[in-house]
Amino acid sequence: MGLSPVSQYLLMFISILSLTGRVTKAQTAPVIFYPFGSVAGDTVNIAVEDENSTRIDLWRPFVFFGRTYNKTYVNSNGHLTFNQSSSEFYVKYFPINGSEDIIAPLWTDVDVSMNGIISYQQYSNGSVLTQATQDINQYFPYLSFTATWVLVATWDRVEYFYHSGTETSFQVVLISGGNLSFILMNYGDCAVAYNAVQAGYDTVNSTAHFVIPGSINGSFIPNLMYSSNVNVPGRWAFRVDSRSDQNNLQENIIGVQMRVTSFSDLTESENIETVLEKLQQELVKSGLPGSVKLKFRRIQKTRP
Ligand SMILES: *[C@@H]1O[C@H](CO)[C@@H](O)[C@H](O)[C@H]1NC(C)=O
Ligand SMILES: *[C@@H]1O[C@H](CO)[C@@H](O)[C@H](O)[C@H]1NC(C)=O
Ligand SMILES: *[C@@H]1O[C@H](CO)[C@@H](O)[C@H](O)[C@H]1NC(C)=O
Ligand SMILES: *[C@@H]1O[C@H](CO)[C@@H](O)[C@H](O)[C@H]1NC(C)=O
Ligand SMILES: *[C@@H]1O[C@H](CO)[C@@H](O)[C@H](O)[C@H]1NC(C)=O
Ligand SMILES: *[C@@H]1O[C@H](CO)[C@@H](O)[C@H](O)[C@H]1NC(C)=O
Ligand SMILES: *[C@@H]1O[C@H](CO)[C@@H](O)[C@H](O)[C@H]1NC(C)=O
Ligand SMILES: *[C@@H]1O[C@H](CO)[C@@H](O)[C@H](O)[C@H]1NC(C)=O
Repeated sequence: MGLSPVSQYLLMFISILSLTGRVTKAQTAPVIFYPFGSVAGDTVNIAVEDENSTRIDLWRPFVFFGRTYNKTYVNSNGHLTFNQSSSEFYVKYFPINGSEDIIAPLWTDVDVSMNGIISYQQYSNGSVLTQATQDINQYFPYLSFTATWVLVATWDRVEYFYHSGTETSFQVVLISGGNLSFILMNYGDCAVAYNAVQAGYDTVNSTAHFVIPGSINGSFIPNLMYSSNVNVPGRWAFRVDSRSDQNNLQENIIGVQMRVTSFSDLTESENIETVLEKLQQELVKSGLPGSVKLKFRRIQKTRP
């Protein structure tokens, strides 16, 4: 089968790893997080429970799937919206086919009245831009990208509503430069979610949408810190400027962790086709859009 040229298909990078990992408590900030909190000079979100969201007037317009926004709302329940704030704690599963764009690093019912801090900061200069430029050029190598603006919003050790003592840490980073825009979702220690949950993004009429595979399963949430589409455990990266989903999807390489329980020679093309088909069915079951096409990228044969 060999290497196929980049077409309007989603490229697939398959790494064979185990889906389950041991969860240990990290006391320090996860290394993949961008600077956050009072140490970084963040503004603390006034959010108490569902009712409060903070409006942020953006220093640079942010293009999200063809729409240009000047403001965003950091809503306490783990998502960002653009036209108006949202106190929605009841998770609507993507694709909503609604009238709002939404970026949801972890949409669930969050309560920071007892525990945790939500904070944010935007940047138009300095080391955070350098970091964003390096990260995006590493994940999307052919764009010669230079970040001119970054917004970091962090949910630091927040508690799930009605589950006191739970601590969950995650972050969303909006990055733009020129006509290009990207989002990073970073996951630290996340507790099992007993309320409905979902991680990903959705757009007006759901012309583009994405759900991190597994993230609608509350028991899976602690595994987010080991999952990735860019081979950096705990980090998901997406290009989000283009009006056409296909253009963005070309750039969005999805990594999967899977455990293979029987052995077959995947260098034989019929075998890999069967595996890709099965894999697609599984991924769609856990939230990927049904239109996703898996393309074989490379395979390396190792001794069993
Ligand atoms: C946050 O929401 C609560 C509950 O609706 C309200 O009592 C409080 O005044 C709000 N705080 C701010 C700063 O808006
Ligand atoms: C954003 O701000 C710019 C400059 O102030 C303005 O020209 C533009 O119309 C605004 N866009 C939206 C969508 O509000
Ligand atoms: C939200 O804002 C965008 C950009 O300003 C605009 O194109 C869109 O119509 C707005 N949507 C709603 C539902 O107000
Ligand atoms: C999405 O909603 C529109 C109405 O706003 C409806 O006409 C359309 O059939 C819906 N599409 C899907 C896939 O549900
Ligand atoms: C970076 O931007 C901030 C906020 O606009 C400004 O206060 C600061 O002086 C700038 N620093 C440099 C080195 O340009
Ligand atoms: C943005 O895109 C437009 C249309 O594709 C192009 O004309 C313009 O040069 C681009 N601007 C930048 C800063 O890349
Ligand atoms: C979304 O769908 C509705 C109903 O089909 C349509 O009127 C509207 O123009 C669509 N909006 C966008 C941004 O595509
Ligand atoms: C939910 O996630 C857990 C932990 O990863 C897994 O053991 C379980 O099979 C998943 N349940 C479903 C229905 O996918």
